[in-house]
Amino acid sequence: MTDSNKKIRRIVQDLRSAFVPTPSYAKLEAHFRTLLEQRRADVADGIVNNARGIVLVGQSGSGKTTAIRELIRQNKSLLKTDPTKDICEFISLQVPSPATMKFVGAATLRALGYPYSGDKQGPAIWDQVKVQLKLRQTSFLHLDEAQDLARYQTDKERQSVVNTLKSVMENSFWPTGLILSGMPDLKKIVNQDPQLARRLYPIEIGRLNALRDVTPVLDIVQKYAARANVETEPCVCSEGFAQRLMHAADYEFGLMAEITVQALSKALFSDGTEARLELQHFADVFFDRSAAIDVMNPFVAEDFARIDPRQVFEFDGENT
Ligand SMILES: Nc1ncnc2c1ncn2[C@@H]1O[C@H](COP(=O)(O)OP(=O)(O)O)[C@@H](O)[C@H]1O
Ligand SMILES: [Mg+2]
Repeated sequence: MTDSNKKIRRIVQDLRSAFVPTPSYAKLEAHFRTLLEQRRADVADGIVNNARGIVLVGQSGSGKTTAIRELIRQNKSLLKTDPTKDICEFISLQVPSPATMKFVGAATLRALGYPYSGDKQGPAIWDQVKVQLKLRQTSFLHLDEAQDLARYQTDKERQSVVNTLKSVMENSFWPTGLILSGMPDLKKIVNQDPQLARRLYPIEIGRLNALRDVTPVLDIVQKYAARANVETEPCVCSEGFAQRLMHAADYEFGLMAEITVQALSKALFSDGTEARLELQHFADVFFDRSAAIDVMNPFVAEDFARIDPRQVFEFDGENT
């Protein structure tokens, strides 16, 4: 690999790892700090209070998983972890499929590093989970893709999910704060039970707004370009461009950031460190992601608002 290639790879890695702060992240961090301080105070006073948690909702690509990862990174120094003593204050896992209580319990046990034998029923597994949460001194349990907990369930099963989640937070043995993140269907699970809803701070990552978010989006593109030390052409500084970018990202914040990083990578890899970021780089990225021809590419098409940006292999009807 040439030196220039190595340099470009490093720039791209740096862009990929950059986290753009957002109002919803600020809210997430503020609530988390409150929960952590409360927990510390309770433990110091020897009080066992029922725990509280957070529910983070947003469409796919909004940035939920990334936000939680950043939360852990930012609070590393505050969170207790000691692998030698098996202490882990924050445990994170993705809800498995199928999301029966038995499967979710088993996956949680595995995330806690506990070898699970596989023959227990749901309630017994969750008793075991609580024992392990206490042993590991786990204060927070994060379940990602938590909307799946409601999928294909009968009302009775859904109630048992809700009861299990509540019992993780409300018990005198070792209450653990739940952090649930997932798609908007997750709201239905939480709202099914007022007691559960009351225990969770709600945060929603809203969609971008084609009018209101023009300036912030252009700002983010400029900041990324500056970080990569790449000049920008005027065509990626206009209101129309911001709207095309938001549409291509289906108005999701995370996807907007992701496409911008990919466009800068494309510029750097094709034109080197002297590259200038232009509209064609964004158009090429959209093509790579979707295989869409120009009339279906929001960065190229005249009337881009009619395009469904989530479709791949979409071609204009007449040509197929
Ligand atoms: N705050 C952010 N700053 C920079 N990039 C982000 C941010 N949030 C999300 N992204 C990027 O957006 C993409 C989708 O984010 P992800 O967290 O996977 O979304 P979700 O979990 O909501 O589906 C990822 O490539 C991620 O790097
Ligand atoms: Mg995710």
